[in-house]
Amino acid sequence: MDDPEMVERLGEGAYGYFAGGAGDEITLRDNEASWSRLALLPQVLVDVGARDLSVPLLGSDLPHPIIVAPMAYQKHVHDDGEAALARAAAATDSTFVLSSQTTTSPPDVAAAVPDARQWFQLYVFKDRQVSLDLVAQAREHGYQSLVITVDFPVAGWRERDMRSGFQVEHPLAINPGGEPLTTEELFAFHDPTLDWDDIAEFADTAGMPLLLKGILSPEDAQRAASAGAAGIVVSNHGGRQLDTVLSGADALPPIVDAVDGRIDLLVDGGIRRGWDVAKALALGADAVLVGRPLLWGLARDGQAGAEAVLRQLLDEFDSTLALLGCPRARDLDASYVTAAPWT
Ligand SMILES: Cc1cc2nc3c(=O)[nH]c(=O)nc-3n(C[C@H](O)[C@H](O)[C@H](O)COP(=O)(O)O)c2cc1C
Repeated sequence: MDDPEMVERLGEGAYGYFAGGAGDEITLRDNEASWSRLALLPQVLVDVGARDLSVPLLGSDLPHPIIVAPMAYQKHVHDDGEAALARAAAATDSTFVLSSQTTTSPPDVAAAVPDARQWFQLYVFKDRQVSLDLVAQAREHGYQSLVITVDFPVAGWRERDMRSGFQVEHPLAINPGGEPLTTEELFAFHDPTLDWDDIAEFADTAGMPLLLKGILSPEDAQRAASAGAAGIVVSNHGGRQLDTVLSGADALPPIVDAVDGRIDLLVDGGIRRGWDVAKALALGADAVLVGRPLLWGLARDGQAGAEAVLRQLLDEFDSTLALLGCPRARDLDASYVTAAPWT
């Protein structure tokens, strides 16, 4: 359901761009609904006096499993844009993923929060050298992982944007064409010929762990592992690309079986509550990405607004661990979830 406060704040066109999804928005709605189709199954009389939210990921420990999803055009949401969201992430010990459709340059975001845990998300452009230069720049400025988004060979069928004709006013900091670009012009730079051989090359040359974002099929998850990815994000791009695809929650279990621990698994789409995070880990995810709620926090009050959203999610997750009788996030497993009887 549309949020009247945000429509008012951002205007109809921008709100449609940030909140909307592809086609009839069936997947967009299902992303949130899918977590509610899982019921939690607490275990009692477990000592939960001390909780440990940390999780292992990419060979080390994250303080907790909540990661800020890469999202485009953050200066359109708030003047402080990506720097504010990156600061909110750092203040809550959350990993921040910078979108390559950023309105603040990767060096400037890195400088805004030195020594923070930051990853760089890349759309591979037709001019391969532009992409390679971006990876080199990210590495140079301390970004620790490369996330290549693979579910965007072309833009999704977004009818809200078609109707509104919405154009982002803020120039992109990364501009493969040299001239200021509209969203549509930028999308035309995406390389629709990208394939698994290209991914293997990025994995070899990135100089940092490679994650592929936007995988829904178990076969692709296995291909990602074979191509040298360190992990994947099971994701439908927040319901913005192909309508009626599976939610992350529903796509995840067969992927967990297929990869059998060979690579790390992250999931996103519709995660709105700390108990959704717990369900994702119980299904076999190692960590989760959260998107739109952070944009709404950013729109409301910049860094403080986004930080408040992250803090609430973390508090909810901590309380869920206590109430589930599972004091260590890394111990969540399938025994804590079951299909909900109310669906
Ligand atoms: C406004 C907006 C812009 C996005 N831009 C990007 C992007 O630039 N790169 C990318 O990989 N994903 C992008 N995404 C997808 C998110 O990274 C993430 O997969 C999705 O938002 C998660 O779903 P949620 O918003 O329901 O939490 C975007 C999502 C939104 C809502």
